[in-house]
Amino acid sequence: MIHTTHTILITGGSSGIGAATARMLAADGMTVYAASRRGTIEGSDFDGRIIPVKLDVNDEALTIKTVHDIVEKHGTLDAVVVNAGNGIAGSVEDSDDEEVRYQFETCCFGALKTIRACMEVFRKQGYGRVITITSVAAIVPLPYQGIYSGVKAAMLSITENLRMETSHLGDIQFCSVLPGDVRTEFTCARKIVKKAATSPYADEFQRAMKVIEKDETTGMSANIIARAVLRQLRRRRMSVRVIPRIDYALVGLLMRLIPECIKLPIIKALYR
Ligand SMILES: NC(=O)c1ccc[n+]([C@@H]2O[C@H](COP(=O)([O-])OP(=O)(O)OC[C@H]3O[C@@H](n4cnc5c(N)ncnc54)[C@H](OP(=O)(O)O)[C@@H]3O)[C@@H](O)[C@H]2O)c1
Repeated sequence: MIHTTHTILITGGSSGIGAATARMLAADGMTVYAASRRGTIEGSDFDGRIIPVKLDVNDEALTIKTVHDIVEKHGTLDAVVVNAGNGIAGSVEDSDDEEVRYQFETCCFGALKTIRACMEVFRKQGYGRVITITSVAAIVPLPYQGIYSGVKAAMLSITENLRMETSHLGDIQFCSVLPGDVRTEFTCARKIVKKAATSPYADEFQRAMKVIEKDETTGMSANIIARAVLRQLRRRRMSVRVIPRIDYALVGLLMRLIPECIKLPIIKALYR
């Protein structure tokens, strides 16, 4: 039996990729719970098909309650897009434990809380779909984004493990979408590590951040990522990894083919 998605939860639904995805899925007829700390989403609510909810994904009890409330109201929860996230920039050496924890808190621990809360429902239903929004940074090591790359690589790997581990539980599928540069609030919201200004890496860091910020602010529309999510949800079998837009997909392919000793100096040179 093919299960279609009617009711979906998107974390980080107040802006950027999450909000664009909420709008696109609602336009396709789905009921979308758009969860974020703000608990709002700009633009139309598509005749009540987008329901903004206030949720910090680091609050486990509230995450479980949010999922239970959706199931109580609709009878099912068909899918979740694990998207809530933020970024931190700085050299790996300059990043202290508190800053590393900040990066892992929402993007990894918050994501896992969301997945665990939904898995309980998906196991009982015998079906459910999970799309994690990771990043091309998971497979391309960008200078001064090491901790961010690390958390996204962790979530990519965990998503693939979950796909394998849950495959005997029914029609439960996991997929990761790896966006490249997207124009969103992400760039403004990014934290810089405390030691960055006085660091021996300061000059190189400033140069790299100029390139990174320019790439993001002139990057693709969040609708491109939203379309990739919608396409996966419509498929009978979701792909394991999806890199939207051909240029970024080609970068992904090159990363697999070129040996590390060649690719790392090339990447470094591109950010100087
Ligand atoms: N922009 C890019 O170039 C890019 C590239 C690759 C991957 N990504 C990934 O895409 C995802 C979405 O980012 P975006 O670019 O759309 O940035 P964004 O516009 O800043 O959106 C981030 C979303 O996450 C929410 N959020 C943050 N912390 C949260 C928490 N603790 N609990 C619940 N919601 C939380 C924010 O809402 P509130 O502040 O209201 O909570 C917001 O809705 C992130 O995981 C990011 O790492 C982005």
